[in-house]
Amino acid sequence: MTTINQLSNHEDEIVTLNGWIYNSRSSKGLHFLELRDGTGLCQCIVSEQEVSDDVFEAAGTLKQESSLSITGKVIKDDRSVGGYELHATDLKVYQVAENYPITPKEHGVEFLMENRHLWLRSQRQWAAMQVRNTIIFSIHQFFQQEGFIQMDAPVFTGNAAEGTTTLFETDYFDEKAYLTQSGQLYAEAMAMAHGKVYTFGPTFRAEKSKTRRHLTEFWMIEPEMAFYDLKMNMELAEKMLKFIIRSVLEKHESELKILERDTSFLERAVSDPFKQISYTEAVDQLKSKETAEMLDQMKKDRESEKKEINQELKDIKKEHGSAKKWRKAQIDERVKEIHSRIDQIEEDLRNIPVWKESAANFEWGNDFGGSDETILTMQYDTPVMVHRYPAAVKAFYMKRDPEDDKLALALDVLAPEGYGEIIGGSEREDNLDVLLERIKAHDLPEEAFDWYLDLRKYGSVPHSGFGLGLERTVSWICGLTHVRETIPFPRMLGRLRP
Ligand code: 4AD
Ligand code: MG
Repeated sequence: MTTINQLSNHEDEIVTLNGWIYNSRSSKGLHFLELRDGTGLCQCIVSEQEVSDDVFEAAGTLKQESSLSITGKVIKDDRSVGGYELHATDLKVYQVAENYPITPKEHGVEFLMENRHLWLRSQRQWAAMQVRNTIIFSIHQFFQQEGFIQMDAPVFTGNAAEGTTTLFETDYFDEKAYLTQSGQLYAEAMAMAHGKVYTFGPTFRAEKSKTRRHLTEFWMIEPEMAFYDLKMNMELAEKMLKFIIRSVLEKHESELKILERDTSFLERAVSDPFKQISYTEAVDQLKSKETAEMLDQMKKDRESEKKEINQELKDIKKEHGSAKKWRKAQIDERVKEIHSRIDQIEEDLRNIPVWKESAANFEWGNDFGGSDETILTMQYDTPVMVHRYPAAVKAFYMKRDPEDDKLALALDVLAPEGYGEIIGGSEREDNLDVLLERIKAHDLPEEAFDWYLDLRKYGSVPHSGFGLGLERTVSWICGLTHVRETIPFPRMLGRLRP
């Protein structure tokens, strides 16, 4: 037995593949079975002349997602997906599948989400999960080689870490408990024991936001480092992101192709230094004439693109009636693409005036909303590191800027191409009295933080850290517009199943 991703090691040999039918068609004396086995796709050719009658007949009955073992000779073929074909000599059917609900025709996203357990088998979803796996692995590789140790923070917690409005409350043997929003406070304790640590675990936010960036359950990576200031924190974040992206580019050329990802932004993120701007500079930029002009231009571009592809849609629909079978399939594919592009364009056209207004009227002191981040990052080719936010919009634990008490030594990393925040972090307040004051000012229950305050009593040191949102990172690297496709079973407002 071998797997599709190993076929190049078996040219001209007889091998057996186990998998599922992704697609099939037949013509005179031949069945073409497109097999998927979890590692890739391979075209298998079953010829009437080379297999027994029983096998040939069985091959003709295999509907989409039927499971089988197929044996045959590995033949190099540059035109086929993966570069190899299998010329079958035998096959064994495990199950002839019932009519599979997800067909190559167009499906709405709600339908696909209802069938997430099956949708995972589709090629784009498969490619995204392969990339997700490499991102996870490379994060561990990076921190381990930088001398960090991984430690786990609890999921049940007795206090809020990131503000009290987004807590999932649960019953913990008659005591109130919360699902963790962030492992950070625990990571700070662990960093005082080990120097450089990182957590990697699920985190929960009861945000009632239905946006393309919000999940109620997501995975966060949180490094925390003793004796690091904001500048060192920023350097580490950039080095880590470059490492992750490089790993994905090295391993996943074909998956990124399946995802139709334009990799130029990823390549630039590896080669060019990230842009660094202060919050105050970012606000000036939002309110600038250039930003307004950019949005006007974007509106014009979208409108003319919409006209063009609507015309194309008309033309190919006309052609469809009299087209040959292969061309019909090609047209169907293109119609799907055009529809999803039109949806995107229409969303942009609805958004642009709102964005323009919100950017022009942005007031210093507010936190950036999703659209502000989108606008800011559309103007850069690399991720943007925004530092020194107004302390009033940031968490209680952030250290103030000694040069300006209104500012926190905070850092957000915004991914380009409109993706927005993927990292949030800061230098931490290390003075006991100041921290106590902040806890009061934020209306947090002091007794819940007694253990955390101890860290400032026994050998307090300057320290910093950040949190990387895994799904938002996968979303940007894969070029997916919505985080729901970046995690096997997304949990969002209104979605608990499957
Ligand atoms: O900016 P956040 O809230 O920061 C913290 O939780 C800090 N305690 C991290 C730290 O300093 N150790 O969240 C960090 C990242 C965000 O930048 C974003 O990528 C992701 O977590 N994130 C979400 N991802 C998906 N859905 C949500 N609802 C998210 N909320 C935050
Ligand atoms: Mg944040």
